[in-house]
Amino acid sequence: MRIDKLLANMGYGTRKEVKKILKSGVVRVDAQPVKDAKTHVDPEKQEVTVYGETVEYKEFIYLMMNKPQGLISATEDQNDMTVVDILQPEDAVFEPFPVGRLDKDTEGFLLLTNDGKLTHQLLSPKKEVGKRYYALIDGVVTEEDVKAFERGVTLDDGYKTKPGDLTILQSGEESEIELVITEGKFHQVKRMFESVEKKVTYLKRLSMAGLELDEDLEPGEYRELNDEEIEFLYQQTGQKSE
Ligand code: URA
Repeated sequence: MRIDKLLANMGYGTRKEVKKILKSGVVRVDAQPVKDAKTHVDPEKQEVTVYGETVEYKEFIYLMMNKPQGLISATEDQNDMTVVDILQPEDAVFEPFPVGRLDKDTEGFLLLTNDGKLTHQLLSPKKEVGKRYYALIDGVVTEEDVKAFERGVTLDDGYKTKPGDLTILQSGEESEIELVITEGKFHQVKRMFESVEKKVTYLKRLSMAGLELDEDLEPGEYRELNDEEIEFLYQQTGQKSE
């Protein structure tokens, strides 16, 4: 790939700014100074340095965010801040997008990546990727509800859900539950509880595809996945990472 594209992708500035950096003679490829923006490099095989510092090349970025309430799971929105708006510029240059959606008032595990192949696999209904949620429910959640979710419930639009694995953590006027579902219909958890005449008052996603939300992440914080976690996600979808 062209050296100016590589440096721009890695966050060294716009193509124009990168051209200036190149002209100043501080960029080297395998120790040889390179000034021409059109020079082609193989980032897998050649060492590129700027001011003597090695440029770590990567094509994809994988971020685990603890989504806070109030943000929209999208790359842009006319009225509200999105999850992409809170990314650091060095991460935003990769143009990651959220894998699926959490509602504005839902917290928890949101994966952001620019890896379209993995995204496609994780969202494919055929893969039945599990998502685990914690919720507070206004109303007494019963064993009947557990059985109903196990059979699948009918939502307000007539859609019958696949089985959901409901665990009651505490049952009372306000109940506490965990629910694992393998689909991602619009407002699915809230609508599943509506189908048994109960209301979700707080919702947090704890895991996706078996990958747990890092407990050290406060709402609004995020971190990159490590290589094992990326590999793990690929394994869950029966694919190989590159
Ligand atoms: N189900 C919901 O109702 N909302 C979410 O944000 C995720 C799952």
